[in-house]
Amino acid sequence: MFKTTSVFALASLASIINAQSSPVSVWAQCGGIGWAGSTTCVSGTTCTFLNACFSQCIPSASITSSASATSSPTPTSSPPVSSAANFWFSFGDSYTQTAFSPSGNPPQIGQPLGNPPYPGGTTTVGPNWIDFYTVMFNNSLILTWNYAYGGATIDASLAPPFTPTVLSLTDQVNEFLSGTATKPVVASWTSENALFSIWIGINDLTWSWWPTGDRLAYNDVLLDADFALVEELSIDSLPHSMQNHTDFVSSPSPGLGLDPSETNETAPILQSVIEDFNTKLAVRASNLSSTLAGVQTFLWDSYAAFNQILDDPSAFGFVNITMFGSAPGLF
Ligand SMILES: *[C@@H]1O[C@H](CO)[C@@H](O)[C@H](O)[C@H]1NC(C)=O
Ligand SMILES: *[C@@H]1O[C@H](CO)[C@@H](O)[C@H](O)[C@H]1NC(C)=O
Ligand SMILES: *[C@@H]1O[C@H](CO)[C@@H](O)[C@H](O)[C@H]1NC(C)=O
Ligand SMILES: *[C@@H]1O[C@H](CO)[C@@H](O)[C@H](O)[C@H]1NC(C)=O
Ligand SMILES: *[C@@H]1O[C@H](CO)[C@@H](O)[C@H](O)[C@H]1NC(C)=O
Repeated sequence: MFKTTSVFALASLASIINAQSSPVSVWAQCGGIGWAGSTTCVSGTTCTFLNACFSQCIPSASITSSASATSSPTPTSSPPVSSAANFWFSFGDSYTQTAFSPSGNPPQIGQPLGNPPYPGGTTTVGPNWIDFYTVMFNNSLILTWNYAYGGATIDASLAPPFTPTVLSLTDQVNEFLSGTATKPVVASWTSENALFSIWIGINDLTWSWWPTGDRLAYNDVLLDADFALVEELSIDSLPHSMQNHTDFVSSPSPGLGLDPSETNETAPILQSVIEDFNTKLAVRASNLSSTLAGVQTFLWDSYAAFNQILDDPSAFGFVNITMFGSAPGLF
């Protein structure tokens, strides 16, 4: 039987062993299928359902009804935004999420990812790529608004996420458009100093591959929706400002190998769907530069990068590529 789990759901394996009934510490697991530990979180945090396999203790302050946020972020401290700061607006799924709430503390000097405290609520319970690139591999001061949400698909009407509370890429873009896009004082970005990144697709493909029909044509439907959002980010609501020198980074879906739903029978089908998606994504991404004047596009190939690691994990220091988490050697 096909299990409707995904790469994302593997977060359940990233549990931290807790004493049976003592409260669970911040960011640790507090529930999910097979969870035998405590479901009570330490004070100031709330056991938050992320998917059927994984609930996590997330600081209460960072949990808001962000889906309906319509106002600009309100800083609780005066925002010393340097004119030299660069701005990164990020969208995606569990690979990227840090559990940032747009209505909480905004990114600012000393707290470049805003809320929650670094590294935020990540799937691996430690810094993820966006954490590292914001504070460690940065060549300038970067303030990062990370709208990514674990389990996200491109649009819930096309590929329903595992639970309706997941904010899809469409929802995330709308959060941005109704908030930071209006350039509040705390985010005085311009087209010259802004980077937009989108890493999305794996949940769409793992959760929507089984309907009958032409899977490769369906990839076009998904990518049409994806790039309509890219255009919305760059044109519709942001006339003039974003059209020059605004950078987009997009990433294809990662490779296979981490998904328990892949049996030896489904994996080849899914793999060909992913490869088709990635090929089409690359064409559309490179076309963007010609259709959106002034926009520069970069594509980072996570599929190739992941496969390189999965082919020779020990060369990269990994001892177990069938699970991930905070313990040493896990993917
Ligand atoms: C990189 O980001 C950190 C954290 O915001 C900041 O302290 C540091 O100055 C930045 N590096 C450069 C080269 O700007
Ligand atoms: C964007 O670039 C085009 C062509 O280089 C130029 O004509 C236009 O004035 C620029 N727009 C803005 C808002 O800078
Ligand atoms: C898939 O794996 C099962 C059990 O490991 C095996 O019995 C079956 O023959 C395999 N099917 C294919 C198509 O390789
Ligand atoms: C990409 O651009 C080429 C050349 O302009 C065009 O023929 C093609 O239809 C475009 N493809 C997509 C998917 O936009
Ligand atoms: C990797 O982790 C899985 C899940 O906990 C476990 O079943 C498996 O034995 C581990 N493999 C290695 C090589 O440690």
